Amino acid sequence: MTSIVLYCRPGFEKECGAEIQEKAAWNEMYGYLELKKNQGLVFFHLQVPEHGEALLKKLPLKRLIFTRQWFVTLTEKIELPDYNRVEAIVESLGTEWQYDDLRMEMPDTNDGKELSKFCRKLAVPLRQGLRKANILTNKKTEFKAEEGGTILHALFLSGQDVILGFSFADNSSPHVMGIPRLKFPSLAPSRSTLKLDEAFLYFIPRNEWSTRLTSGMNAVDLGSAPGGWTYQLVRRGMMVTAIDNGPMAESLMETGQVKHKMMDGFKYLPMKQNVYWLVCDMIEKPQKVAKLMSEWLLNGHCKEAMFNLKLPMKGRYQQVNEDLQAIKDAFTEHQVKYELYAKHLYYDREEITVHARLI
Ligand SMILES: C[S@@+](CC[C@H](N)C(=O)[O-])C[C@H]1O[C@@H](n2cnc3c(N)ncnc32)[C@H](O)[C@@H]1O
Repeated sequence: MTSIVLYCRPGFEKECGAEIQEKAAWNEMYGYLELKKNQGLVFFHLQVPEHGEALLKKLPLKRLIFTRQWFVTLTEKIELPDYNRVEAIVESLGTEWQYDDLRMEMPDTNDGKELSKFCRKLAVPLRQGLRKANILTNKKTEFKAEEGGTILHALFLSGQDVILGFSFADNSSPHVMGIPRLKFPSLAPSRSTLKLDEAFLYFIPRNEWSTRLTSGMNAVDLGSAPGGWTYQLVRRGMMVTAIDNGPMAESLMETGQVKHKMMDGFKYLPMKQNVYWLVCDMIEKPQKVAKLMSEWLLNGHCKEAMFNLKLPMKGRYQQVNEDLQAIKDAFTEHQVKYELYAKHLYYDREEITVHARLI
């Protein structure tokens, strides 16, 4: 049986499954779901084996909100012996196909963390074994995901059980399990800073940072206190208007790049049309935030917006779809072309991050 394996935040398997099933059906590809509850893993077992590869080619991973990473299975679960694990993996792959890089992965759980030590030890001999068997290409230079290629995934469910599969570098996450490991900047005033850092990394291509994410730009941060998001804008050299009734960290105010206004983020509007970035982390009803964001963009108050939408306790997938649809409807009504992407990022919890701009 061929399946697509999807990685998501543990606890969000239902949303991840509902989404792949729906978007596969739009492409006339069908299957049934096996959810690994609280393990952040979803198996989508396909009715037609060829649809695994076809779907990975057709459906952009960027269009899936709840999936961090995915691959198509090459094998069912393989039971590995205590010794000669490398040989067992090499043997089950055969020599028909070659891959450009290897990702050793495991569930994003406490048990998975234990497994990662085991995987680190196995990684070097496994790579060597795969290269020797000509399964992994022997490139002189380091693998670069942006240059394309095929990735071999080894998902370890335990030290004895592994599932092998593949994905395409141009339509999968460049990070192991789709998780970017970001370092918390010691000068940032709150941990939420990592959310905006990850969002910029994820949504804005590096080669466009010089025009879309650069010093001298004006930015507005709605719901800014104590300043984790503002910190990300300041460190990129931007001038920030921070809106929140709560206090901002002194260290940020001392940079001279921040103007703090204690007022309601739903009432503030800039005096001039010179704001590039609008970022918003107000914990408010998602419908209200979605409406505010589309109004800012449609009225030309900002060029790009990055914001969080809080997820409800129940019916999360449906609610997200409704919130995003409301934004799309507003743009369509005004006959503007737009870019709108949403992702449940690694540093998000009960919210998703959305990026929107008119083009
Ligand atoms: C999750 S915190 C923001 C954290 C911030 N992004 C950071 O990185 O430090 C949410 C903030 O939104 C603010 N907030 C909620 N509703 C607001 C509103 N209507 N106007 C302005 N700020 C609001 C709260 O005071 C709170 O400081």
